[in-house]
Amino acid sequence: MNQESQQNSSKHSVNPEKLKSLKELSKEYYNIDSLAKYIDVYRISQTDPDDFWNTIADRNFVWKRKWDSVLKWSPEKAEVTWFEGAQLNITENAIDRHLKTRGNKTAIIWEPNNPDEEALYISYSELSERVNKMANVLKKNGVQKGDRVCIYLPMIPELAIATLACARIGAVHSVVFAGFSASALSSRINDSNCRMVITSDGSYRGSKSIDLKSIVDEALESTPSVDCVLVVKRIFSKVEMRKGRDVWLHEELKQVNDTCEAEVMNAEDTLFILYTSGSTGTPKGMVHTTAGYMVYTAFSFKNIFQYKEDDVYWCTADIGWITGHSYIVYGPLLNGATTLMFEGVPSYPDYGRFWNIVEKYNVNQFYTAPTAIRALAKQDIEFVNTYDLSSLKVLGSVGEPINEEAWNWYYENIGKRKCPIVDTWWQTETGGIMISPIPFVTPTKPTYATLPLPGIQPSLMDDSGNEIQGNSVSGKLCIKYPWPSMARTVYGNHQRYKDTYFSAFKDVYFTGDGALRDEVGYYRITGRVDDVIIVSGHNLGTAPIEDAINEHPAVAESAIIGFPHQVKGNALAGFVILKNEGESRNKENLSKEINQLIASKIGPIAKLDRIHFVSGLPKTRSGKIMRRIMRKISSGEGNQIGDVSTLLDPSIVEEIKEKVQPFL
Ligand code: WTA
Repeated sequence: MNQESQQNSSKHSVNPEKLKSLKELSKEYYNIDSLAKYIDVYRISQTDPDDFWNTIADRNFVWKRKWDSVLKWSPEKAEVTWFEGAQLNITENAIDRHLKTRGNKTAIIWEPNNPDEEALYISYSELSERVNKMANVLKKNGVQKGDRVCIYLPMIPELAIATLACARIGAVHSVVFAGFSASALSSRINDSNCRMVITSDGSYRGSKSIDLKSIVDEALESTPSVDCVLVVKRIFSKVEMRKGRDVWLHEELKQVNDTCEAEVMNAEDTLFILYTSGSTGTPKGMVHTTAGYMVYTAFSFKNIFQYKEDDVYWCTADIGWITGHSYIVYGPLLNGATTLMFEGVPSYPDYGRFWNIVEKYNVNQFYTAPTAIRALAKQDIEFVNTYDLSSLKVLGSVGEPINEEAWNWYYENIGKRKCPIVDTWWQTETGGIMISPIPFVTPTKPTYATLPLPGIQPSLMDDSGNEIQGNSVSGKLCIKYPWPSMARTVYGNHQRYKDTYFSAFKDVYFTGDGALRDEVGYYRITGRVDDVIIVSGHNLGTAPIEDAINEHPAVAESAIIGFPHQVKGNALAGFVILKNEGESRNKENLSKEINQLIASKIGPIAKLDRIHFVSGLPKTRSGKIMRRIMRKISSGEGNQIGDVSTLLDPSIVEEIKEKVQPFL
């Protein structure tokens, strides 16, 4: 290099010291432990995402074959592939590779519903054996690579083991939350033509026991694709076993050995399907694939919880939701962590149960939902103060916006003002946490999910489809660039995937949430902007609930809205138009029947807290129900509805105003 070009290059290039530190840093993208590093790594992930993900994937996982390309992305078709050409098995990364150094380490601690029952400590070696055996049972019963297996189990170890066993042999798991009704279960089984159902005789929830097998039996009356039901014995109740279809897991396990070669999977082979509610139509089976999901859940778990080797991590979610998939099973196990699974509920035997468990196992990272925090904050503080919570280092929140009061209570009483709260924003569709503080790195701010993880590029859009630049702004939250764990499609309906996520705004993923960006660039999620209502952290679409109500013979039509509720975040209110014959009926009985119908079609979670019988609904001339109007009236803002001239029948607004007491 001659002198002149040397001078030139030094004028234009990064200073050598900085370059050196960036290069060193590049080896350690995986664990972000300072704000300066976050800023650097974020910048690298934005300027050269391919190289960023290439490095993370390359250095932190075992592959049978490496990829030919990091990312291929076609926004017009809403098609994305990550690590194409790579081959792997996620269970080799979550289990086998730990066996040498962590064979005796506890992988899963299982705390039963009843504190008097013995807890289980499952080491990585034992997990490996149990997953392999379960995988062999699946094979023995005809499950092959690519087959869909529906898992309908309570929070017992077999739930985690069954998901991993599916992954071991390349079967696609579709876990359905065991609180869903028979009809919700059968529609999910049919949507993806599951071949097998794994369930249990029953489940314990607090002082109750629930007969799961009979719910499955009812569901299977209309599911032609299922030819085998594998049943776990949990509550030792008497169940009917249908010959030729139902088998007991414990008997099957006696007939298989504990080695099962991990199936070679392509990066983009489906790992699982998980259903989530949409604003219209039936639930969407979100499809997650293997390599990208693995890379992102592992990376995000490590950073968001700052997990250290001997820590005990506890996420209180159910594995039936995405939080349980990514942050009870895959994320923690991929990092060789000890993950706690709790079968019960926070109120049993009393409201001190969570804190009792934290003390019992010296839990270091605790991850729960705002609805649980609010419910616990309402109880006598003695339920908290009885227990030693000094092991806690990081507190997490997920599922809905956390209000300031709950945030403060959590921070002061549980974290004793020393544990950062990671308010993690993400979705079933995103596979992993997208916007969240990194504890001890990102300064937290109550109710703010703060900053995106490296590799995630959020943007706010206005209603005319333009990106809103700068800070102190709000808009619709979108993600501008693909990330490895994004859902690839809606099972069996790619058009729906495209319409839902990639049509509202050009070339970007639309989340369905609104958000604001404060003066320093922190994000605060303000809630759904579509017709999805989040009740106790669970997504409920308005359409399926309205369909259930409308099935009542006395009902002509209905619409539901969410209204603020102290514990659940939102509760549901229904506006119901009756047919003539319904008018003369006792409204209290009708309300009960409507709620029973909802419980049986969807699940008790979707029951309405309030039902208003009205003679009409505020609809536009094109027939769209204006839920906004009902929401305004319900929240006492009936005088701020604005122009109702576009309504087909504006007089209906007056009737609703008269009938509805605002929920203040
Ligand atoms: C909401 C759960 C505010 C949001 C992982 C999102 C949140 C929906 C937060 C996805 C949070 C989740 N702050 N809102 N920290 N986390 N949400 O698919 O509306 O069950 O779109 O995934 O929950 O719910 P899902």
